[in-house]
Amino acid sequence: MRRGRVRIGDMTILMQSQSPNDLEFAPRRQSFEIEDALASDWHGNGAFRTAWFNAMSMLFPLGERFFIDSVCHYLDEIDDPRLLDQVAAFRAQESTHRVQHQKYNQMLCKLRNYDLPRFEKNERERMAWAYRELPARRRLAGTVANEHLTAIMANDMLANRDVLLNADPEIVRLWEWHGIEETEHKAVAFDVFVAVGGTVAERRQALLLNTFFFFKDTLRNVCIMLQKDGKLWSIREWASGFKFLFIRPGILLRVFPAWLRFFRRNFHPWQNDNRQLIEEWEQRQVSAPLSSDAG
Ligand SMILES: [Fe+2]
Ligand SMILES: [Fe+2]
Repeated sequence: MRRGRVRIGDMTILMQSQSPNDLEFAPRRQSFEIEDALASDWHGNGAFRTAWFNAMSMLFPLGERFFIDSVCHYLDEIDDPRLLDQVAAFRAQESTHRVQHQKYNQMLCKLRNYDLPRFEKNERERMAWAYRELPARRRLAGTVANEHLTAIMANDMLANRDVLLNADPEIVRLWEWHGIEETEHKAVAFDVFVAVGGTVAERRQALLLNTFFFFKDTLRNVCIMLQKDGKLWSIREWASGFKFLFIRPGILLRVFPAWLRFFRRNFHPWQNDNRQLIEEWEQRQVSAPLSSDAG
């Protein structure tokens, strides 16, 4: 057993006396039975809300590979053994997310007759450009920015469980599992960035740019999905989507203050110590065990 944690069955419960910077974490082996649900508008029968999450999923496999590459590029420059352990765990978690979201995306496209390469086209081209044209530290700054976006959305989803209200429970389980691991490793890319001399200006610029591309790519994918489903011009769906994003639950408005905090000079992801969300989630798994071990 590692210090600061208690193991219950296959799970590890965090002891809150630990500093969040010393958090120890590891990937969880998971399997998800989501095929039946993916064929339908699994988020409360809402086409827009379903497409919103499906559209984000399309960005993960390529994005997470980019995140791993940009952090691991600096492995030789990290001396801190704690951070090295966290980088290894970050890499393992993001690799698992890639595998699960690849399966999700392939299943979704097959079931709904979507064209998978079309969803990844813009992101693939932009990443090829970034590998070719950007210095490694700019790519890392982009990863830090994206990790902030995923961490604040995960925090909102886990803290306010209305984001996935009325959604298919098995797909909720997948998104919550991903959100928990994003929470656990939210500071890893940031700490590597600081360790290798990343500047405040670099990460601020990166957040502006990456927020723009995140919304551009997600909305583009939403439009392609709605068009394929024959709902692109449905005023009802767009009104429902607007309400979901900006009014109730209003996920984008809710995360905006946390998004802004990244621009503070002394920002650090663990200034929001939300480890209790991990603990609460772990406790929910004890009362409703996961179907695990498919990896
Ligand atoms: Fe991830
Ligand atoms: Fe991540």
